[in-house]
Amino acid sequence: MMGRVEGKVAIVTGATKGLGRASAILLAREGAKVVLTGRTEAEGEEAVRAIVAEGGEAVFVKQDVADARSWPGLIEETVSRYGRLDILVNNAGIAIAANVEETTLEQWRLTMAVNLDGVFLGTKYAIGAMKKTGGGSIINLSSIDGNIGEADLAAYCASKGGVRTFTKAAAVHCGEAGYNIRVNSIHPGYIWTPQTQNYLADLGTAEEEKRKAAARHPIGRLGEPDDIAYGVLYLASDESKFVTGSELVIDGGYIAQ
Ligand SMILES: NC(=O)c1ccc[n+]([C@@H]2O[C@H](COP(=O)([O-])OP(=O)(O)OC[C@H]3O[C@@H](n4cnc5c(N)ncnc54)[C@H](O)[C@@H]3O)[C@@H](O)[C@H]2O)c1
Repeated sequence: MMGRVEGKVAIVTGATKGLGRASAILLAREGAKVVLTGRTEAEGEEAVRAIVAEGGEAVFVKQDVADARSWPGLIEETVSRYGRLDILVNNAGIAIAANVEETTLEQWRLTMAVNLDGVFLGTKYAIGAMKKTGGGSIINLSSIDGNIGEADLAAYCASKGGVRTFTKAAAVHCGEAGYNIRVNSIHPGYIWTPQTQNYLADLGTAEEEKRKAAARHPIGRLGEPDDIAYGVLYLASDESKFVTGSELVIDGGYIAQ
């Protein structure tokens, strides 16, 4: 049976753990060749081994998404290895638990460097490659915090709001230019990943904070990484061929209230 992204070539940033890892594994399972990036070689190679063990094709490339110099080489390596680039998942991101009064300028700038510069650079360079081979799909991980404010995540909210409207600007540009490149954002609620575990642990007792966070989701629990990976798969596949500039909210009803 054909996979849902059979024969496509994908880059997933920050794929060493959490949502990036789950998305890379699912894309590979559905037939894509996947380039996983991240800063930790051992974890990246472990994720590649998990994909290869299932019969998939993948490679790890070490990358800091905030480093502008890393992008041209990553795109070049992908195209020379697999011939093209069809899918970019700008997933890498950080969250620092601090309200506006506590946030230092250094924390603010670090958050913007990873969450916004990284997404901007990835989108810019991916468009350059995709337009040469007939199009593609760019998927940017925003957050429910790109739509609403959370007191303890001041810089994170600002960065994810930026990802949300930057995505729309890039989508409109690609549409008007006739590139056949779609650009969309995904807005997860709280998903049980290392990022969420660390954030909740910073706020207080992890178990108690997890229970309180779950209660804020009308569905009554936190999400799992594959809840987001399935959204990534849909936006990566041709099933979403009329979807661009949109925001896919996957949050157990959090921002519906
Ligand atoms: N987990 C959630 O509840 C949730 C909710 C909303 C949005 N998100 C967003 O989804 C994305 C993935 O989140 P996650 O929960 O899997 O996080 P995570 O911390 O579990 O994993 C993030 C990944 O990004 C990598 N990374 C961080 N900085 C990087 C950099 N400078 N260069 C390259 N890689 C880098 C990390 O090493 C890690 O592999 C993030 O953008 C996050 O903001 C997560």
